[in-house]
Amino acid sequence: MSDTTNTIKHVASPLARQTLLDGDLVKPVADKRPIRLLPWLQVVKIGGRSIMDRGAEAILPLVDELRSLLPEHRMLILTGAGIRARHLYSVGLDLGLPVGSLASLAASEAGQNGHMLALLLSAEGVSYVEHPTIASQLAIHLQATRAVVGSAFPPYHHHEFPTSRIPPHRADTGAFLVADAVGAAGLTIVEDVDGVYTADPKGPDGAKAELVRETSASALAAAGGPLPFDHTLTEVMGTARHIERVQVINGLVPGRLTAALRGEHVGTVIHTGAHAG
Ligand SMILES: Nc1ncnc2c1ncn2[C@@H]1O[C@H](COP(=O)(O)OP(=O)(O)OP(=O)(O)O)[C@@H](O)[C@H]1O
Ligand SMILES: [Mg+2]
Repeated sequence: MSDTTNTIKHVASPLARQTLLDGDLVKPVADKRPIRLLPWLQVVKIGGRSIMDRGAEAILPLVDELRSLLPEHRMLILTGAGIRARHLYSVGLDLGLPVGSLASLAASEAGQNGHMLALLLSAEGVSYVEHPTIASQLAIHLQATRAVVGSAFPPYHHHEFPTSRIPPHRADTGAFLVADAVGAAGLTIVEDVDGVYTADPKGPDGAKAELVRETSASALAAAGGPLPFDHTLTEVMGTARHIERVQVINGLVPGRLTAALRGEHVGTVIHTGAHAG
């Protein structure tokens, strides 16, 4: 890659002389599989509305289960925003705030849930960490302790896409993006339902809704309809590099998270666009 002529070092870069807009030129250089930075990491996304908003009744048994999982797994536990963000969206929309402002405010609500969860696990050495720490110091934190907690929202802030007035990239998308970026062992999404159903099991057609045991991101995207996670999750799953499957489980049922992290099929398994190899 580099030539030395006399004392001058010339650094040749295969991308130096070409536009990054030409896919045919960029592909041979950029189309390499990225390395897995944290291949032993289990990412667990805890629902804000479905779990945290239920308070002690739902949170304490799950905290006990997370505590018992610490000797077995190293985890990045990420929390969703829940009801306070819904209220924030309605006030913010009424005030005409742009989507990027709402994204960062909602992310802080997700962070509050994370702080509460981390405090309950602090005796085990678990702390809440901010996004910059997740971005650059996750490895050292997970050498010092078995798990850390963070906000599941992606840090898009004012970079959030203006396609919708409500931030489209929320907690589920954020959890997936970080899990795939670091090449984690898996992502488990913890909800208050057994998995993905053919319709919202708590909606008007709930009686007819059937549990889907196994599906793909592309099938869910094509089907449309309500899902127990952000719709943009199906988009980012489509371009995944590492995470081949995500499991959606019911965190109100003791033992489900333990089984899911051991690789058992106890909820809905969603296949992404990533392939082993
Ligand atoms: N197709 C579906 N299958 C299963 N649940 C669905 C479906 N569509 C909608 N839902 C509903 O989604 C609810 C979960 O809501 P939501 O995903 O907003 O909560 P959450 O994940 O806790 O939120 P947050 O984003 O704040 O973390 C379930 O309780 C269920 O009623
Ligand atoms: Mg959800």
